[in-house]
Amino acid sequence: MIPYFLNAQGLTKRYPAPRGGEPLTVFENVTFGLRKSEFVCVIGHSGCGKSTILNILAGLDKASDGVVLMDDREISGPGLERGVVFQNYSLLPWISALKNITFAVRSRWPDWSRDKVLAHSRKYIELVGLGGGAEARRPAQLSGGMRQRVSIARAFAIEPKLLLLDEPFGALDALTRGMIQEELIRIWEQTSQTVFMITHDVDEAILLSDRILLMTNGPYARIAESVSVNLPRPRNRSEIIHHPGYYPIRNYIVDFLVRRSKELTGQGAAVQAGNRSSTGLHYPGEVDPLTASPSPPDQAEPEPETGGRKVATVSPLRNPSNQPHDLRRSP
Ligand SMILES: Nc1ncnc2c1ncn2[C@@H]1O[C@H](COP(=O)(O)OP(=O)(O)O)[C@@H](O)[C@H]1O
Ligand SMILES: [Mg+2]
Repeated sequence: MIPYFLNAQGLTKRYPAPRGGEPLTVFENVTFGLRKSEFVCVIGHSGCGKSTILNILAGLDKASDGVVLMDDREISGPGLERGVVFQNYSLLPWISALKNITFAVRSRWPDWSRDKVLAHSRKYIELVGLGGGAEARRPAQLSGGMRQRVSIARAFAIEPKLLLLDEPFGALDALTRGMIQEELIRIWEQTSQTVFMITHDVDEAILLSDRILLMTNGPYARIAESVSVNLPRPRNRSEIIHHPGYYPIRNYIVDFLVRRSKELTGQGAAVQAGNRSSTGLHYPGEVDPLTASPSPPDQAEPEPETGGRKVATVSPLRNPSNQPHDLRRSP
């Protein structure tokens, strides 16, 4: 048994039929676990339901079926033990960057003195490399990259047990994105929080993650595989690409996005029917592209007796262009 800190079990999202139309099942029986202090990224094509899953974990949306347990307690609404960062910053526009953070810190610890709130907030402003006057400006007076740093500082400052990041760097230029990615790793290494992050950028996912969850296309999307990123830490952008393990992992994921995510579309219910454990839950098989053989699947549930699609093979893809793979640029 792997004692998952967070357990998403059998999540399904259905939308009722619009007049004269068919009901829409965006994803079905999505099951996965997050270990304490793990950094997990989710990758899948647009529309497969990634943001919906993140919002369910945040308590901002409800699944049609299934539950999410955190520390064995069901998530039923938003809470300060979970911090969320969206792509569009979502800062309060009428107060300064620093006040955006002190506001959140005060709601988290209402008993704290003014000085303690301020010192704590400043610590996080400095951790994300903002200071020297920038913290006194309102969001509209900051660049996109600075605003996103404030959002990240605010999310970390409330010291949530779980940090939920929905494409947090999607709107940033490559240079700024790279700098903030490295800051994010540094803060995460210092705080040991559990992070669940959505990205469309394969290189970003490999740089940051311990594991990458791969989603098939919708409708009836599901998490098909969980790819271990067994590359040494600390990692940085310029060195990681020279590690011999980098391209096998990258090629494995790109192959999933280009080929397997489509091939598996709509097979969710069928595959899972033959791959279901005694509790009816299907945890995705855990794959290590470096050893080219899957490590044991998540053991939280017994192995299904029937041979489900757990064993993934690594295709000997090359990366002819050596270009970063970004779902927005090419599938
Ligand atoms: N209110 C709604 N009614 C019907 N379909 C919806 C509604 N809200 C979202 N969807 C559909 O849910 C799917 C998943 O959306 P989302 O979670 O944002 O995907 P992703 O983040 O992977 O791009 C999309 O195909 C979207 O069209
Ligand atoms: Mg989304």
